[in-house]
Amino acid sequence: MGSYIARLGNVESRYIRILDTTLRDGEQTPGLAFRPDEKLQIALLLEELNVDSIEAGFPAVSRGEYEAVKMIAREVSGSEIVALCRCNRADIDLAVDCDVDAVHLFIATSDIHLKYKLRISREEALRRAIDAVEYAKSHGLVVEFSAEDSTRTEWTWLARFFQEIVNAGADRLDIADTVGVMWPSRMQELVRYVLENVRGSYILSVHCHNDFGMATANSIAAAEAGAGQVHVTVAGLGERAGNAPLEEVVTALQFLLGYRTGIRFEKLKHVCERVLEIAKFEISPNKPIIGINAFSHESGIHVHGIIENPQTYEPIPPELIGAQRRIVIGKHSGKHAVEYVLKSMGITPVPEIVDKILKVIKELGDKGEKITENTIIEIIRLVVAGDSEKTTVS
Ligand code: KIV
Ligand code: ZN
Repeated sequence: MGSYIARLGNVESRYIRILDTTLRDGEQTPGLAFRPDEKLQIALLLEELNVDSIEAGFPAVSRGEYEAVKMIAREVSGSEIVALCRCNRADIDLAVDCDVDAVHLFIATSDIHLKYKLRISREEALRRAIDAVEYAKSHGLVVEFSAEDSTRTEWTWLARFFQEIVNAGADRLDIADTVGVMWPSRMQELVRYVLENVRGSYILSVHCHNDFGMATANSIAAAEAGAGQVHVTVAGLGERAGNAPLEEVVTALQFLLGYRTGIRFEKLKHVCERVLEIAKFEISPNKPIIGINAFSHESGIHVHGIIENPQTYEPIPPELIGAQRRIVIGKHSGKHAVEYVLKSMGITPVPEIVDKILKVIKELGDKGEKITENTIIEIIRLVVAGDSEKTTVS
């Protein structure tokens, strides 16, 4: 599956790894907690979607979390299983016991975190980080390393820190935009700066929070600037305003920019919906890609366009992600929408019937009434039966 919108210039079609952290950062959504069996169900769904890595949890958090990570590592084989660990040997030992493929080590690098949270010097942070990387590598683990609050870290120090981490054996480096303060052009500058100043064989990743609503844009911008991996969560679950939403990032990467991912797009909507059901998390109707309105059309001009050729008002066909187009009738509708609905109900759209139905619907809309699908069916039934005087539908 290539890009839907051919993007001039992107001839390389680079592969971008997807690390899903719904089960770790996503679970840090205020008020959200998964039981171990729910975590396993979600991990199996993410495996079905074919994400490259699943961050299954933070084993040091609780006994249940440890059990869940261990169970996921045992049951899931199609995606790399990752455990989050602080830079200490006890956390890494727990991850080793869970038999995961990779550890996601992290330590803060910004002065504000070092001074007020960890109360250690830069050199001490570096010493702990190197020890943790070497220890994890000595256990044969893949090492992903996040510099927490990278984006508020002085750049020359960040590059020196990352260089030492790569020298110690880390496989992937992650720029964590912990409080979501980046914007796309700045993120690109930072990604290029790290790639130019940190030598060695590693994949550069980004982890974007959505505090200013730019997590998706920042993730995409990072990929354009050369990052080879992005961290995401289903529907952007996560701390505060959440993380970069998986469904937005992967569809934009693949269908707008033409990068390759391993995602099985036809399963995307279903997997997101199931995960959100398990999380008991409701999303707004206008949520990109997976919201109920993402492929719904009401206004007359749009419905006319869609009926003639869906590309007029849809950036990608909904079927690509396992969704369906909806034609919604309301105050803004025109005759094409009513004809379409009548036809789909097996009723021939005679012009005078269409006009009567539209008149009733617009009157109701002007009164501010909510027009549901049942209301429409009732109106159509009454008008077709020649009973339009009774159409003061409640
Ligand atoms: O936002 C963050 O900095 C994190 C780290 C653990 C990578 O989630
Ligand atoms: Zn985070």
